[in-house]
Amino acid sequence: MSYLENILRTDPAVVTAFSALKFVANDHMQHLRLCDLLEEIADSLPDRIDKAQCFHAALALQYRVNTHHQLEEEVLFPRLLARAGDNHDLERIFRRLSDEHRTDEGHCDEAIELLTRLSDGTPPFNMEAAGYLLRGLFEGLRRHIAFEQDHLLPIARKVLKKEDLEVLAAGIRDVLRGHMPTGFHLQLQ
Ligand SMILES: [Fe+2]
Ligand SMILES: [Fe+2]
Repeated sequence: MSYLENILRTDPAVVTAFSALKFVANDHMQHLRLCDLLEEIADSLPDRIDKAQCFHAALALQYRVNTHHQLEEEVLFPRLLARAGDNHDLERIFRRLSDEHRTDEGHCDEAIELLTRLSDGTPPFNMEAAGYLLRGLFEGLRRHIAFEQDHLLPIARKVLKKEDLEVLAAGIRDVLRGHMPTGFHLQLQ
């Protein structure tokens, strides 16, 4: 069970300017663990479903993904654009990443509904569609995260100044305060 609870863990526990980008990278790692869990659940359909896995996956989808997107779109992307000057390539990339966020959030909502049914022991309306939905979600998330890890964070480490990182850290603390469910292993400064 502890690996399931770790899906909800947020590190570093205290987010400062120094650790803000590390927080974003750690969040990506947690999302990748969540993707592995979604893949396990998809593989377990139709008759090896683990209700606890489904419960934790639904909770993690609900509290992790949207908050991460919000942070990137409200703080990280604008700060990067401000530091990069008139960079139309970067603008186009951020538009694409934001579009991918909306697509993934739509899939997340459907997946949360499905996983909640499964965690209650209720079979999905359509088993084949359920597997397809989960696979579409984790494949999309993995692609998106790989791009951000390989391209977005290296730029952020290079161009963001201390004041940007302070705003990012404050944004992280705000977002987490607003969305934290009971049982999140998190301490705020
Ligand atoms: Fe993103
Ligand atoms: Fe991200």
